[in-house]
Amino acid sequence: MGTKFAQKINEAFVEHEKWRRRCLNLIPSENVTSPLVRRMLASDFGHRYYWDEPWYGGQKFSEQIEQLAVEAAKQLYGAKYANVRALSGHMSLMAALMGLLEPGDTVVISDTENGGYPLNLQARFPLNIHYFPYLKERYVMDKDGAVELIERVKPRLVVLGASLFPFPHPVQEVAKAARSVGAIPIFDGSHVLGLIAGRQFQDPFGEGAEIMLGSTHKTLFGPQGGIVLVKDNMELAEKIDLTLRAPPVLVDNFHMNRVAGLGVALAELLSFGEEYARQVVLNAQTLAKSLHENGISVVGEKRGFTKSHQVLLHVENSDEGLRIRDQLEAADIIADVGVRLGSQELTRLGMKEPEMVEVARLVSAILIDKEPTEQVKTRVHRLIDQFQEVTFHFKELG
Ligand SMILES: Cc1ncc(COP(=O)(O)O)c(C=O)c1O
Repeated sequence: MGTKFAQKINEAFVEHEKWRRRCLNLIPSENVTSPLVRRMLASDFGHRYYWDEPWYGGQKFSEQIEQLAVEAAKQLYGAKYANVRALSGHMSLMAALMGLLEPGDTVVISDTENGGYPLNLQARFPLNIHYFPYLKERYVMDKDGAVELIERVKPRLVVLGASLFPFPHPVQEVAKAARSVGAIPIFDGSHVLGLIAGRQFQDPFGEGAEIMLGSTHKTLFGPQGGIVLVKDNMELAEKIDLTLRAPPVLVDNFHMNRVAGLGVALAELLSFGEEYARQVVLNAQTLAKSLHENGISVVGEKRGFTKSHQVLLHVENSDEGLRIRDQLEAADIIADVGVRLGSQELTRLGMKEPEMVEVARLVSAILIDKEPTEQVKTRVHRLIDQFQEVTFHFKELG
């Protein structure tokens, strides 16, 4: 009886792999991992528990691996404390909030209209939430307004960073204002941790953030998961640590195969991060400029379109976003409803500026020139077939 489920799951898996290998993936919150990371993910560690208390046997290599991943993270980001146990970026943020907030505390964060992550804090927790003001220019924070707000509402913590994130946030000004009222400046780097690792976006710790956290699988090309980094305030680190460590608050079993894979990805960024991140940003800028030249309306023209991996198209509403997403997908170009396009995955597959010009041509062929879908799809396959190997990794390790 079970065979048919297993067979069908296997069939869907085979079809998915076959299909996605020939797609141009432009989703900005995804990436591809190296062969060694994939080996870790599929390894025996995926079957094992690890706990700090002396309970389970068989842990000696797990302990080593977690320590190595933590050490690599600390080195890469210049942090005194790193925790790799959160199972997702969302959970890393929740760990910080749960560890540092009391009911009734005030938080300043970005709203979704301005690109903020849809955390919906107010609905879930007894907190006072205020939103950062933004300029009319989309996704550009009003730094004077932000400072004024912080001085007025005196929050317990502020959360910088966003989901639609083409331009850096004014971390320096906001962190300074936060510290002056005793608030903790947090930077949610879910989207841009890989760029920060390669010193190509902004330097949140250098600019005054105390905590940096987020997903480990967007521009940071690790397995899906979360990370928390604390610059040097170990008192704060201990509070967050308690939410991610036994006795379990948010995480008990934290999936050693993921941690092993993350450790390898962090090591890859230590060695190749700068070159990778530079190319990611260059590729995003080339893609944005080419789309604009082809007649597609791209956010941020006056500011050079983007300083991250993200290229944001102007869309009227989510219906238009959905229509664009579906039109592109019919030609094997994968995007989201935002419409946000990301250059990180194609960069990891080795694409450079000339390929970005071609990607822009293919997107425009669908959205502007209304070329037949099948014709564009053939061109998509022709391009992606030449870029089937992950780059920026230790080839000698397989
Ligand atoms: C800014 C930001 N924070 C947190 C998250 C949550 O990350 P995850 O999907 O890893 O839970 C996201 C997701 O895209 C995000 O954009």
